[in-house]
Amino acid sequence: MRAHLKAIGGAAILLGATSLATQAQMVEPTTPPPPPTFEAQQSPIFVSISDIQEYRALDEYHEPDWVTANFVDTGALPPVAERLPAEPLVYKIANMPDGAGVYGDVMRHVIGGRPEGWNYIGGQSQGWGGIDIGMSECLTRTGPLFTITAEELEPMPNLAMSWEWSEDGHELTMHLIEGAKWSDGDPFDSEDVMFYWEDNVLDPNVSPLNGATPESFGNGTTLEAIDAYTIKWTFEEERPTQYLYQMAYGTFCPGPSHILKPEHPNYSDNTYDEYKNAFPPEYLNIPVMGAWVPVEYRADDIIVLRRNPFYWKVDENGNQLPYLNEMHYRLSTWADRDVQAVAGSGDFSNLEQAESYVEALRRSADDDAPARLQFGARTIGYALQMNMSGNGWGEPDARAQAVRELNRDLDFRKAITIAIDRQRLGESLVRGPFTAIYPGGLYAGTGFYDADSTVYYPHSLGAANAMLDGLGLTDTDGNGVRNFPEGTAGGQDVEITVLANTDYATDTNLAEGVIAMMESVGIRAIANFQQGTARDDMAQSGQFDWAVVRQGAEYVSVVQGTVGLAPVGPRNHQFHRAGSDGTLDLLPFEQELVDIVNAFVSTGDNAERADLMKQYQQIFTENVYSVGLTQYPGALIINKRFANIPAGAPIFMFNWAEDNIIRERVYVPEADQGDYELHPETLPGAPGSDGPAS
Ligand code: GLA
Repeated sequence: MRAHLKAIGGAAILLGATSLATQAQMVEPTTPPPPPTFEAQQSPIFVSISDIQEYRALDEYHEPDWVTANFVDTGALPPVAERLPAEPLVYKIANMPDGAGVYGDVMRHVIGGRPEGWNYIGGQSQGWGGIDIGMSECLTRTGPLFTITAEELEPMPNLAMSWEWSEDGHELTMHLIEGAKWSDGDPFDSEDVMFYWEDNVLDPNVSPLNGATPESFGNGTTLEAIDAYTIKWTFEEERPTQYLYQMAYGTFCPGPSHILKPEHPNYSDNTYDEYKNAFPPEYLNIPVMGAWVPVEYRADDIIVLRRNPFYWKVDENGNQLPYLNEMHYRLSTWADRDVQAVAGSGDFSNLEQAESYVEALRRSADDDAPARLQFGARTIGYALQMNMSGNGWGEPDARAQAVRELNRDLDFRKAITIAIDRQRLGESLVRGPFTAIYPGGLYAGTGFYDADSTVYYPHSLGAANAMLDGLGLTDTDGNGVRNFPEGTAGGQDVEITVLANTDYATDTNLAEGVIAMMESVGIRAIANFQQGTARDDMAQSGQFDWAVVRQGAEYVSVVQGTVGLAPVGPRNHQFHRAGSDGTLDLLPFEQELVDIVNAFVSTGDNAERADLMKQYQQIFTENVYSVGLTQYPGALIINKRFANIPAGAPIFMFNWAEDNIIRERVYVPEADQGDYELHPETLPGAPGSDGPAS
């Protein structure tokens, strides 16, 4: 594909030839063409949250026999009933696709990321692919909401078992699960919640992994502990039920304060860097609230996690979850995740890199194929995001600052969007009915999408060239590349770096495509391709001109991560954050987007919300807030031996499939169990110790 697109890029550039009249004619905006129809989607069975789970005491509790024999009978652990909260979270059997499960077996994941360490709330990545999702539990939960009827849509209780609003709607009191414990037996309580909030979210020197900032919960919002199991939020807005979504993965998942707090600069002599890095991957058995605890790590090879003996969720028969004893994370590549899942040497993949679709489909079609492959809606989308800060975010030099000024100019953004041939870009990834033209903004796959409110500027190289001419960007030195006007960045060639993630072929392929298409309009786009963690650091700190990115849940679920749809605070948005003086230099249309998002967050009225999102889409796409590239469906690949995988589970909607399928409820029927456990009959040991106890 690279060679192919380069060839297009080599075509002669039309500098200065087009009149303004033709320009107006050629960029006539329209609505996007309807996406190609794509079947093969299974629908979920829609239910209420109370059909899935409740909190209640059961008469008796059970655990794997070997836990009783090796740990309880020897006095190493208290009996299971004493390890569980008085009222554990109970999953109802009627809602389990295959019924109550049995213990045993492993889910063998493969990932392309690498763990930086275990300090998730301090900002360290565990390597993605659902490791952090399996280790963390959050106040609320949203992944499984794809099965909840629209009228009843609200986040599921999780660490917060229940909540109530004050009469005036400004206070939200939440009741935490009582008597639940971290995987080392330490009680979970409001101290953990307050440490997360005060010393991580509110502390501007800490950036929790998934980008929680104070604004994620509203300007002026406060949180206090009433007692060990009660917390109270106070909001400036009235009844902003929307923030319940922010209390789910990944923005309100507290860490073990008894382990983390002593390393935090407020309570130690550590620097912030030392705090962030205090728990490297080699530090094993970090206490978690999630179902599995890391017990083994081998660099570039594997992370092994074992069942959490204090996990606080059970099935209706009183069986402590999870059913699966072990989780593997092979440290390989994301493309290998697809290959291994299809071949049966791995168990799970979110098929999301369109380049592998044809081969994966072909191999899974066989009756003897080890894995099932199920496509969902078009929820994977890519955009070219331009750095919109004109006041110093990321400390741009003269050239980069000149690019920022262009990025902030609507005619420039329009010229770039029409220079992109989206049809060709999509087909360069995969042929067939998968990819669809994506002008930017909300995805066609969300209920909030309205085609009539979507402004699409069709592809036209001629018009793009004319618009760039109109901006005074002409090729003054005859080298085929436009120059900045004299007096701007020394009149040098217009060079723009494109940040992309090398962990995914799709990211770099799309970025290569954009780079080649820019050549056709006389702009020298330069690859700045970085491995995932380095890319994320550069993006977070504003060190980019343009970035090609796979976007977050806000563009597909809208209600999850909503505040990410606009720069509502100084550091919550992906491509526009505050400059060196702490202020945001919003353009007028950005301010309108901020107002819309704030209005959306503070109303529960569905009709009003739908209308607000139409306005959002209109303003976003009219102003080319980001340059949409392509959107397409993903497929869940899962080994056929697993039971309790819900029908129609999307790989990405409110969250990734690793959360959506409720892994703690997934099991392997006895007859199908494999011999995959690397640490059979062991449990996590003491924090920091290298290896599971047996
Ligand atoms: C990565 C993968 C996704 C998903 C997430 C989970 O981003 O690309 O498919 O597994 O991790 O966080």
